[in-house]
Amino acid sequence: MNTVPPDPERPTSKPRPSELASPGPLSHTPVLSAEVLEALAPAPGRVIVDGTLGGAGHTRLLLEAGAHVIGIDQDPYALNRARALNLPGLRVLEGNYRQMRELLASAGITRVDGILLDIGVSSFQLDDAARGFSYHADAPLDMRMSQAGESAADVVNTYPAEDLAAIIYEYGEDRHSRRIARAIVQAREAAPIERTVQLADLIKRAYPGFSKGIHPARRTFQALRVHVNDELGALRDGLEAAEALLAPGGRLAAISFHSLEDRVVKRFLRGSATLRPLTKRPVEATEAEQAANPRARSAKLRAAEKLAVAQDGEGEEEA
Ligand SMILES: C[S@@+](CC[C@H](N)C(=O)[O-])C[C@H]1O[C@@H](n2cnc3c(N)ncnc32)[C@H](O)[C@@H]1O
Repeated sequence: MNTVPPDPERPTSKPRPSELASPGPLSHTPVLSAEVLEALAPAPGRVIVDGTLGGAGHTRLLLEAGAHVIGIDQDPYALNRARALNLPGLRVLEGNYRQMRELLASAGITRVDGILLDIGVSSFQLDDAARGFSYHADAPLDMRMSQAGESAADVVNTYPAEDLAAIIYEYGEDRHSRRIARAIVQAREAAPIERTVQLADLIKRAYPGFSKGIHPARRTFQALRVHVNDELGALRDGLEAAEALLAPGGRLAAISFHSLEDRVVKRFLRGSATLRPLTKRPVEATEAEQAANPRARSAKLRAAEKLAVAQDGEGEEEA
């Protein structure tokens, strides 16, 4: 059991169930909730880090089970929304979860009992057209969760064609990556690509044989988002930090939404000497959850427990 120094700004008493029952206007439907609770085993006195606080959906459930939660998010909008919920037992820290060791140390915390990473963007971010994540809604081409650093517009307007093609191929797994990169470079010679719809339309025009079905810009938008936010690099660093922070017996739960992320988690767990996988195969949402929440269709949860003593060699082969 780990202790948390009091946060002078926040109430620390256990919340009443009634305070947690109503999600209010800032809700985000958390995926695989029951499975996350089973993996993290929240209980009074346990300290759990939610590295991807988002709409605080999972955090509410962890608090409801009596755990103390440290919620981290790099998105200032998400943090403001979470702070406004004023949930007793929740301490909010702004930053990238890849730096969770430093963030927690600055709050006087060096050991925790559980860590959750629910990777990617929230429904709020996707639904907020102004953030530029969606190819459906016209908006500035931004995609930065933290609002800092290079935007998607910076990338498409300055990177050489071969770098753009590599990003679209690697992070979007689009076999037409070179063709799309060429179309981007050609278009930006006439005028900078500043808007989401501008980019989506030029990809549609460049895409061979598209008539209906999934929009041909989907994979490129995903690739740009992953690149702009260095999502896979953050995940690798975050998993390492989590391994170091967990107390013996502490639990890690990581939810990913595409195969690139799941591969990173799988490989990390396989190579870890101190994390014992609790899930041989990734846990997926039930049919009922998938029907109720389309985001859950691609969700995969892997969980692990921190060992007291490191084990030799690579872990068992997993799916
Ligand atoms: C899928 S949402 C989490 C939803 C949350 N579990 C819930 O139930 O409401 C992911 C959140 O993590 C944040 N995020 C993504 N990558 C991050 C990173 N590397 N560091 C900190 N926050 C990150 C996003 O800004 C977003 O708010």
